[in-house]
Amino acid sequence: MGDMQDIRNIVILTGAGISAESGIDTFRSDGGLWEQHRVEDVATPEAFARNPDLVLRFYDMRRAAVQTKLPNAAHDALARLDEKWTGGLLIVTQNVDDLHERAGAARVLHMHGSHFNAWCTYCDRRSPWRGPLIDRPPCPACNARALRPDVVWFGEMPYRMDEIYGALRQADMFVSIGTSGAVYPAAGLVQGARDLGARTLELNLERSQGSDWFHETRLGPATMMVPEWVEEMVG
Ligand code: APR
Repeated sequence: MGDMQDIRNIVILTGAGISAESGIDTFRSDGGLWEQHRVEDVATPEAFARNPDLVLRFYDMRRAAVQTKLPNAAHDALARLDEKWTGGLLIVTQNVDDLHERAGAARVLHMHGSHFNAWCTYCDRRSPWRGPLIDRPPCPACNARALRPDVVWFGEMPYRMDEIYGALRQADMFVSIGTSGAVYPAAGLVQGARDLGARTLELNLERSQGSDWFHETRLGPATMMVPEWVEEMVG
């Protein structure tokens, strides 16, 4: 790793691993199952078409569970970086929880959507949402009983990729935290960052599928690794 003062713009990618120590299951740990369904089989448009109640119940359960969890020291450290870093900063998260925001981070982009919006399949409007969807409540904008989770399912396009690639083009540093590098396009961002000349750092519990692409990989729990790195950056 070179010296820190030539770093102006940072892009951070977070995955389920940053929320693991808050008690939110990751996807590909040995768990990774829900009511005998692989998560990949529940989080798809086909599953929603085939069995909407199953999918709505899955997301109702996770939306409610997240509200009982708290941000951890890793979320808090990124919020502190956001507050103190005078250069460019974008926290791109694959997570659909709101722990980055609840820790106080502002420059957050949810590329896989959020538990806390409902998306109307009739009028296409997204509305802030905290409760269940299983009872088919009316859309706040158009009243149609056509709300779905505002979560990017397998086979759907992640959100705001143009903004993400734009930030990557300006990035001097790309840091990946708590992601397995199993799902594209998120998993490919490190390659883009590296091709564009950014320094790349991975903070993860174990080596990931993308580790070979990083200039440096530090292994350990996010609640230890992230505060340590933020301390290096903002002192
Ligand atoms: N600290 C740091 N990293 C951790 C911790 C921890 N305490 N616990 C687990 N990890 C790491 C795991 O080693 C793994 O590499 O976090 C990663 C979690 O990987 P996944 O479960 O695959 O989650 P993620 O990479 O976010 O999945 C990407 O796949 O299921 C889809 O859309 C969903 O956003 C998700 C995407």
